[in-house]
Amino acid sequence: MGGHGVGAAAAVDSAIMDRPQTTQTADTLGAPGADARTPVGADRMRGPFRVGDRVQLTDPKGRMHTIVLEAGKQFFTHRGSLRHDDLISAPDGSTVTNTTGVEYLALRPLLSDYVMSMPRGAAVVYPKDSAQIVAMADVFPGAVVVEAGVGSGALSMSLLRAVGDAGSVHSFERRAEFADIARANVEAFFGGPHPAWRVTVGDLVESLPDEVGAGTVDRVVLDMLAPWECLDVVADALAPGGVLICYVATATQLSRVAEAMRDHGGFTEPNAWESMVRGWHLEGLAVRPEHRMHGHTGFLITTRRLAPGVTPPLRKRRPAKGAYGVGGASSGASGTSGASGGLVDAEEAWTPDDMGERHLSDKKLRRLARSAAASTARADDDGTDPGSADGRAGGSDAGGSGRPPADRLPEDSMPADTAPDTAPDDAPQEAL
Ligand SMILES: C[S@@+](CC[C@H](N)C(=O)[O-])C[C@H]1O[C@@H](n2cnc3c(N)ncnc32)[C@H](O)[C@@H]1O
Repeated sequence: MGGHGVGAAAAVDSAIMDRPQTTQTADTLGAPGADARTPVGADRMRGPFRVGDRVQLTDPKGRMHTIVLEAGKQFFTHRGSLRHDDLISAPDGSTVTNTTGVEYLALRPLLSDYVMSMPRGAAVVYPKDSAQIVAMADVFPGAVVVEAGVGSGALSMSLLRAVGDAGSVHSFERRAEFADIARANVEAFFGGPHPAWRVTVGDLVESLPDEVGAGTVDRVVLDMLAPWECLDVVADALAPGGVLICYVATATQLSRVAEAMRDHGGFTEPNAWESMVRGWHLEGLAVRPEHRMHGHTGFLITTRRLAPGVTPPLRKRRPAKGAYGVGGASSGASGTSGASGGLVDAEEAWTPDDMGERHLSDKKLRRLARSAAASTARADDDGTDPGSADGRAGGSDAGGSGRPPADRLPEDSMPADTAPDTAPDDAPQEAL
């Protein structure tokens, strides 16, 4: 997608078809066992290991390495090497032993594993939040979904799985480099372009009205700095009763988008929440919560589109005096987004720095895009895995949005087969 300008609704060239297809043939999937009724990517999730498969290896200390199987290749660590051929044709869930006797458990990564280890241009929506988004926005098979921004494509994958081959996920991303990374990640996971996916490079506010008809969209998912700026176009696109769900990292964003939803007048009273997942340590009688957890990822807020011309019923409970800052309480149906109210002044500038995001240089972004594209091309060459991005023992969050985990790019950029085995003992790959 190089050459597409940011801000312009550039051509759509990912998966990409005007309307989603209902099925894909075994030929286009290119994998044994697939038939016309096999949903895209499903064949890659089962059966014995094949050339081109991504395999997650766990050593006795719980350290994880991801490799993409190639005939004749070896996986090296400083504790010996392991032949890919020993895994090819073995059942999923096998164990293999390397040249120095270290035993590895070999499993196909789940979507949640893949998301946490794939290359990242921007911070991803963690699996626990993707699950909430799919469930609470009620993303159903066959649904027409609009998503912005696409970032690294993590959420896109969950949405694609939920809508299925017969649905539609139309993702908008204003940075072409991020769209490239997302495309490489999604294609690597599904084994090629997904028939329900369409990516438009451009700002949602400018692009959405040209790309979708008014009232044709079932669900809108916004994961971006300033979702309140998009409420007018989202309201036009959503069908009556359609769901808007926003994922924001900070309480100030949450407040602002909630007030803008109210001020718009075309939405129901919003609901907001966060979810925390606490792992449990299970060992004999020592059964207790883990000492460490990801305390915060983001907040979710949902609202539903009212029918045209309907105004929301008056709120029974009046907000407490002083609950609103400069700009006052929301004053009903103003028909504008980017509204005032909440904890912050409407004129304040919202920048990535304000939200605690780390700056990502253009050079680093270009390197990431090259790395993601190279892994796709590499797999294309052997005709088996059009999008393999092998060798990541942990994700690199290069874009950042105040969300964990830490940037581990240098290690991530190395092919697993050559990367030194340097993961700290207490830092296995983990998914929420
Ligand atoms: C945190 S990332 C999204 C991560 C993504 N949901 C994932 O799971 O990988 C936010 C993205 O939104 C994009 N973005 C911000 N505002 C936008 C807008 N108005 N239109 C389109 N994209 C936007 C940014 O460029 C960035 O890539």
